[in-house]
Amino acid sequence: PRGPLVDSFGRVHRDLRISVTDRCSLRCTYCMPEAGVPWLPRDTMLTTPELVRLARVAVSLGIEEIRLTGGEPLLRRDLVEVVAGLAALDPAPEISMTTNGVGLARVAAALREAGMTRVNVSLDTLRRDVFLDLAKRDRLSDTLEGIRGAAEAGLTPVKLNTVLMRGVNDVEAVDLLAFALEHGYELRFIEQMPLDAQHQWDRSRMVTGEEILERLRAAYRLTALPDESRGSAPAELFLVDGGPATVGVIASVTLPFCGTCDRVRLTADGQIRNCLFATGETDLREALRSGASDDELAALFRLSIGAKLPGHGINEPGFLQPPRPMSRIGG
Ligand code: GTP
Ligand code: 5AD
Ligand code: SF4
Repeated sequence: PRGPLVDSFGRVHRDLRISVTDRCSLRCTYCMPEAGVPWLPRDTMLTTPELVRLARVAVSLGIEEIRLTGGEPLLRRDLVEVVAGLAALDPAPEISMTTNGVGLARVAAALREAGMTRVNVSLDTLRRDVFLDLAKRDRLSDTLEGIRGAAEAGLTPVKLNTVLMRGVNDVEAVDLLAFALEHGYELRFIEQMPLDAQHQWDRSRMVTGEEILERLRAAYRLTALPDESRGSAPAELFLVDGGPATVGVIASVTLPFCGTCDRVRLTADGQIRNCLFATGETDLREALRSGASDDELAALFRLSIGAKLPGHGINEPGFLQPPRPMSRIGG
């Protein structure tokens, strides 16, 4: 019962992404409306012992890396304890986090100490007015401090995530790369995916990976790294001006990477999602709270992975955006 998590297409799942809260400190337009979304009721959220128990089951099924996401994971008050609990699992998973960086500077050292190894920070713009327009909160300096604090605390490599939007921040592609190169951060540009709570994603407005490369090539020489080095990573990497620095492009929509997917997700309210775009979920919370054994929980993980589809289907006719928005999945 403890063999690896293999789906019906032979994909072995080694990466668990855990959303630790659906709340967020920003309101990025590609994610949620300025007014926010109804938050999950507190009593549906996994407690830290519950979360760590599910992670222990996942680790027994071959999960090697755990990424904490949100909403904004830093809004979980006991985040350091979550990390410590995960770090104590045997074998210990690699623990990373994807965050907007607001408030990170203050806790980066404690997270590192507890066992987190690295972070990815969302940074869509270097301009205060654009940040305010895009995230609806005047927090650019907090994010930048968070990035610096993470690097200082050794949460490295620090990766930066930029979702490029036409007419909003697309003109900043080269500036953002220059900033990343100057500080030694690994920047990745992301195609916007249809996961916003407002359901306003529009393919014709999406800045494509191809277009991102074109913009960057106006200022830099880019050389694609060999495909073999990519593994299951969403980002295709390019050497910048011969390297060693790289820039990444995450072209989820125009160049899907589902064929090498090794990711499974656990939501803050205890549902397994076998894909970002899954329309169904497997309820671990209910099972857990009604006394399921570790074997029974493991069987539910297998059930979910067994039903995983070959890909997201965004480019197929009849595609429907999942009902659960990005902020309740965690990316
Ligand atoms: P690294 O291990 O550091 O490379 O992390 P990552 O790029 O896998 O994770 P991160 O949380 O930084 O996500 C970057 C972007 O990739 C976000 O827009 C995610 O939503 C997207 N992403 C991550 N995993 C998947 C996935 O399995 N499928 C799709 N379509 N997008 C994903
Ligand atoms: N499409 C692509 N990426 C998104 N992110 C949030 N919403 C979207 C979307 N609709 C990114 C965030 C963060 C990561 C978890 O996902 O910027 O870096
Ligand atoms: Fe995996 Fe789904 Fe992402 Fe494709 S869209 S890479 S199957 S999580």
